[in-house]
Amino acid sequence: MKITSDELRKKWLDFFCARGHKPISSASLIPENDPTVLFTTAGMHPLVPYLLGEPHPAGKRLCDAQKCVRTGDIDEVGDSAHCTFFEMLGNWSLGDYFKEQMVPWSYEFLTKELGLSPDRLAVTVFEGDADCPRDTETAELWHKCGIKKENIFFLGKKHNWWGPAGQTGPCGPDTEMFFDTGKPKCSPECSPACDCGKYVEVWNDVFMQFNKNADGTFSPLKQKNVDTGMGLERALMNMQGLSSVYDTDVFVPIVSKIKSLATVDDIDSADNVKAVRVVADHIRTSTFIIGDERGVTPSNVDQGYILRRLLRRAIRFGATLGLKSGDYSEIAMAVVDKYAHVYPELQSAKNKIKEEIDLEEVRFTKTLENGIKEFEKLCKFLQTDTIPGKSAFRLYDTYGFPLEMTIEMAKERGFKVDVEGFEAKFKEHRDLSHAGAEQRFKGGLADTGEATAKLHTATHLMHKALKTVLNDPNVNQKGSNITPERLRFDFSFARAMTPEEIKAVEDLVNAAIKADVPITCEEMTVDEAKASGAVGLFASKYGEKVKVYTIGEYSKEICGGPHASRTGELGHFKIVKEQSSSAGVRRIKAVLE
Ligand code: ALA
Repeated sequence: MKITSDELRKKWLDFFCARGHKPISSASLIPENDPTVLFTTAGMHPLVPYLLGEPHPAGKRLCDAQKCVRTGDIDEVGDSAHCTFFEMLGNWSLGDYFKEQMVPWSYEFLTKELGLSPDRLAVTVFEGDADCPRDTETAELWHKCGIKKENIFFLGKKHNWWGPAGQTGPCGPDTEMFFDTGKPKCSPECSPACDCGKYVEVWNDVFMQFNKNADGTFSPLKQKNVDTGMGLERALMNMQGLSSVYDTDVFVPIVSKIKSLATVDDIDSADNVKAVRVVADHIRTSTFIIGDERGVTPSNVDQGYILRRLLRRAIRFGATLGLKSGDYSEIAMAVVDKYAHVYPELQSAKNKIKEEIDLEEVRFTKTLENGIKEFEKLCKFLQTDTIPGKSAFRLYDTYGFPLEMTIEMAKERGFKVDVEGFEAKFKEHRDLSHAGAEQRFKGGLADTGEATAKLHTATHLMHKALKTVLNDPNVNQKGSNITPERLRFDFSFARAMTPEEIKAVEDLVNAAIKADVPITCEEMTVDEAKASGAVGLFASKYGEKVKVYTIGEYSKEICGGPHASRTGELGHFKIVKEQSSSAGVRRIKAVLE
């Protein structure tokens, strides 16, 4: 079936809305109040509190298309199917229906809505272990729908268990659906677990019924949930019978733009095809990160650093295609034009996207120039004919020199490069940064414990106190990050706060704590929330309801919660640090004692 991205999103939402689901807007790519991950990586991510039992204002059945970023496979980008940004189509049952309903719906959607032949479908189900029994129920449900027994595969935790997204949190056995490309089996044991290319995953239904605890054990959740996810780009590739996601309609205008700007002779050579894909993927992701409702700009930390790496990598690969200064922001504008009707935040941020990409390009060019100076110095003092791997890696890491470029420049001067040494350093660094990424995951997903709930309430009180004390309409929340030990809050303000101002903010928050007022929560539309004077950021596409938390006369904010019940529970509030975070943004760390 030749289906476009717009048609697939619509079909998905229509199908689930007709079955009692409420559509919800994509959450920001940058998770709020979640110290453990840099980006939203799955549709379930913003829904963790609701999977754990908080009531969701839109009800128990939800569906959406969620913006996601995963950069773990960045080195694989350039093949036919890896992307660092993707859209995940998802639907959820929050303690409502379970597998007996989800399996027939999945079958119906795949065969009737998408027109896939049942004979070309294979599914996997959980084979069972000490934590959770074999999922014969799901296997039988599939068989009853019409999937042949030989196309139902039982696999272990490695393949058929999803989550938690962190070290702790909601998770459970899943059932995955695969499109059988019709290629012959690579061996008699060939199954969807095999990566020979016969089976391509299209959809994952997770039966989230466990919470993984910090000690590695699993306890049953308060409610049994369904969490599903279909990657839009890969689904389109399968549906459109294409061999690469870069040929699907979401990428066509982006890839055409790159090709029209490229000046290289043989645009279809294997190396150039890869370079075009890297540029297309990285510029698309960068556009979504800068253009997000909580968009960030290139920097050396956190999300800003990932953005910087993506842009610089795009520029490096683009250079091999002959792309020039200014071309990258032009490619980004093709991304905005393709997606603005689905993600209007991109349209609002169009100028910012253009400016930030152009600026980063200028900065990167400067770094490369400095790198060339460094290279010349290096050659001058070299005692042997070989540039050590360590130095080649420094040129790569600090100055953004691709290894090929160092080899080429070395050759011009009659030097060699210790490629093995470079690769060893590269691997060491990659292992370290992977460990770093996992570290972030280790705290578990958004902690909904008592300590974080109290700090969350303190954050609202402090936000309001900052507005009052600094008396500046530009004071607005730019980011919030809460661990059980402390709150961290970024807000727009041009200068450092004075000690008097810090004290005044502490006093206001402590006065609100002393007054011991209750915290109440109401559900309303975004328009009603704004009209009631609530502050907060929320893009609502479907007029869906939001929660508004009110703390007596002190504060009113749109927020997902959870919060303390009364301010008196908070103890004593203290600001431990006030510093610059980036240009025009201050960062406060504070604790409850
Ligand atoms: N959360 C599941 C996934 O990301 C649906 O695959």
